[in-house]
Amino acid sequence: MDDLKAKYLAAIGDAKDEATLEELRVQAVGKKGEISLKMRELGRMTPEERQVAGPALNALKDEINSALSAKKVALVDAALDERLKTEWLDVTLPARDARVGTIHPVSQVWEECTAIFADMGFSVSEGPQIEDDWYNFDALNIPSHHPARAEMDTFYMHRAEGDNRPPHVLRTHTSPVQIRAMQAQGAPIRTISPGRVYRADYDQTHTPMFHQVEGLAIDRDISMANLKWVLEEFFTAYFGTPVKTRFRASHFPFTEPSAEIDIQCSWEGGTVKVGEGDDWLEVLGSGMVHPKVLEAAGVDPAEWQGFAFGMGIDRIAMLKYGIPDLRAFFDSDLRWLRHYGFSALQVPTIRGGV
Ligand code: PHE
Repeated sequence: MDDLKAKYLAAIGDAKDEATLEELRVQAVGKKGEISLKMRELGRMTPEERQVAGPALNALKDEINSALSAKKVALVDAALDERLKTEWLDVTLPARDARVGTIHPVSQVWEECTAIFADMGFSVSEGPQIEDDWYNFDALNIPSHHPARAEMDTFYMHRAEGDNRPPHVLRTHTSPVQIRAMQAQGAPIRTISPGRVYRADYDQTHTPMFHQVEGLAIDRDISMANLKWVLEEFFTAYFGTPVKTRFRASHFPFTEPSAEIDIQCSWEGGTVKVGEGDDWLEVLGSGMVHPKVLEAAGVDPAEWQGFAFGMGIDRIAMLKYGIPDLRAFFDSDLRWLRHYGFSALQVPTIRGGV
C-alpha cells in the first residue's frame, strides 16, 4: 500500500495536463484500477486482516482522490494564468477610426428648406412618385393636347395590351401634390412638398430623377406681394445673406399670372456667388394659382386665391455648396459623398430672424 501511495502521489504531482490526470485516476481508483482490485481482495481475508486492511485501503483511496482533485484545480489555475499572460488588451490605445456615413447634400438642403418654411407656417405634404396623369397634368390645367405634356419628357408606366385605364406617369413635377393637399385639406392652406420628380433628360445640369420643392399658400387675400416676401425671406435665410429677387413674366398652365424668379448673383473667376453683383440666376417658377386648378382640387376660386411655386432642390444645393455637376449627386461615389456630405449632427445652416 505504501508503494502504491508513493507511486500515485508522485505521478499525480508530475502530471502536466488533465488528460494524464484522468488516466491516473482510471489506473488507480477506476473500476478496474489497482486500488479497486485490492479492495476486492478484502473478501478473501480473515476478519482480523480485513479490520486493518479495509480502513487503510479506504484512506488510501480518499488520499488519492483528493490529490487528484487538488492537482486538477492547480492545472486549471495554471492554464488560466497562462491565458491571462498572453491575452491582454491595452485599453489606453487610441480607438480605431470609425467609418461614419454622411448626410447627402440633397437631404441636407431638403431639411433646410423644410425648417425655413416651417418657420413661416408652412406644413409638409407628400404625394406618390408614380402619379395618375390626371393629377400630374389635367388637374393642373394641362389637357391631353397641351404642348407642356410633350415638353416635360414624361416617363409613362407600361400598360398591358387591352388595359385602357388612363396612363400613370412618373411625376414630372411636385405640382400634383398641390391638388392632393387641397383635396385633403381645403382652404386656407400653407404647405410645401419636397420630393423626387422624373424627366427623360441627362447632361451636366439634368438627371432623369431630381428633386423639387413645391410651395402653396391659399387664403382669401393672398397676392404676388406675399409670394415675393416669402421667397425673399426664404433665400435670405437659406443663403445666409440678403438676396434680391427679380420676377420675369412667364407662362405656366397652372398659374395666372406666372413669373420665373431670378436671384441676384455675381460670376467671378468662374464661380457663382449669390446675394451680390448684378447678374441674375433663374431658380424657380411661380404664379397665382389658376382658378381652374383651384376648381379641380375642390376649392372655390370665387372665395379663395393664392400663390404657388416650384423650385429645384438640387439646383439650390449646387449653388449654396459650390457643387459643379448635378450628375455626381446620384453616382454614389464615396469620395464625393465624404467631401460634400454633412455630419449627422450638423444643424442646418440657416439664418435666423425669419
Ligand atoms: N411645376 C413647375 C415646373 O416643374 C414649377 C411651378 C410650380 C411653376 C408652381 C409655377 C407654380 O417647372
